[in-house]
Amino acid sequence: MGDPHPKLEAHAVTRTFGRGTKAVHALGPVDLKIAPGEFTCVVGPSGCGKSTLLRIAAGLLRPSRGELTIRTAAQRPAAMIFQDYGIYDWKTVQANVRFGLDIQKVPRREANTRATDWLTRMGLADFADAYPAALSGGMRQRVAIARALAVEPEILLMDEPFAALDAQLRTILQDELLALTQTTRTTTLFITHSLEEAIVLGDRVLVMSARPGRIIAERRPPFPRPRSGEIRTTPEFTALKSELWDLLRGEVGTEAAA
Ligand SMILES: Nc1ncnc2c1ncn2[C@@H]1O[C@H](COP(=O)(O)OP(=O)(O)OP(=O)(O)O)[C@@H](O)[C@H]1O
Ligand SMILES: [Mg+2]
Repeated sequence: MGDPHPKLEAHAVTRTFGRGTKAVHALGPVDLKIAPGEFTCVVGPSGCGKSTLLRIAAGLLRPSRGELTIRTAAQRPAAMIFQDYGIYDWKTVQANVRFGLDIQKVPRREANTRATDWLTRMGLADFADAYPAALSGGMRQRVAIARALAVEPEILLMDEPFAALDAQLRTILQDELLALTQTTRTTTLFITHSLEEAIVLGDRVLVMSARPGRIIAERRPPFPRPRSGEIRTTPEFTALKSELWDLLRGEVGTEAAA
């Protein structure tokens, strides 16, 4: 049972962009509760409102209706990783990773130590003084992940963090994130297009409908923790993947027909 208070709670959240005949009903209504330590994945067709939901959770966007609350202890932030990385080209890799710590006013020496530690874990120690322009897409993505994790967020909000990576690096980072979140028990809301990724990482997989995105199904991957990437080769994995794909295929079809 644990802590009865969810870390994240959404009540009838909707979001519309624009007005009148040009209004786009992008999201909702969405009801959602995420318990402390829970890793929740969201899959859904392109344009169904996934990034919109995450931006609302991050406080970057307001719901048109409804309410979304995040409960964090004092001083512990929520951290967001954007679909397009969101790292700063004019800051060095080290300064990018230190950025959230600077905002938290962590003393410079400690901030540098923590930033270096995360860069090392992400295999980027040799690039601390480089600028993002000198990095590959996968390396930039790892900088964004290091920056988010360095603040030791109470909630991690990730918007397709591995989408731009090749399949091999993607698998490696999935396994790393799996190990990491199982150690830290960080509450995570994770958006992805990859059903495989959702099943490997998630305690829950939520399926969203075509726009306006609503949650139409939920599955709990039947793999106890700590789990490893080896679950990918089990029959249960394959079965769940095809079940989720069937749910999703209906929605992609809906959108194409609309
Ligand atoms: N700032 C904005 N102004 C106007 N429309 C927007 C804005 N942000 C999103 N939208 C619209 O809202 C809908 C949902 O967008 P959103 O980015 O949330 O989708 P998504 O599910 O993240 O898609 P993808 O999987 O392609 O990333 C889209 O129709 C999009 O055009
Ligand atoms: Mg998106």
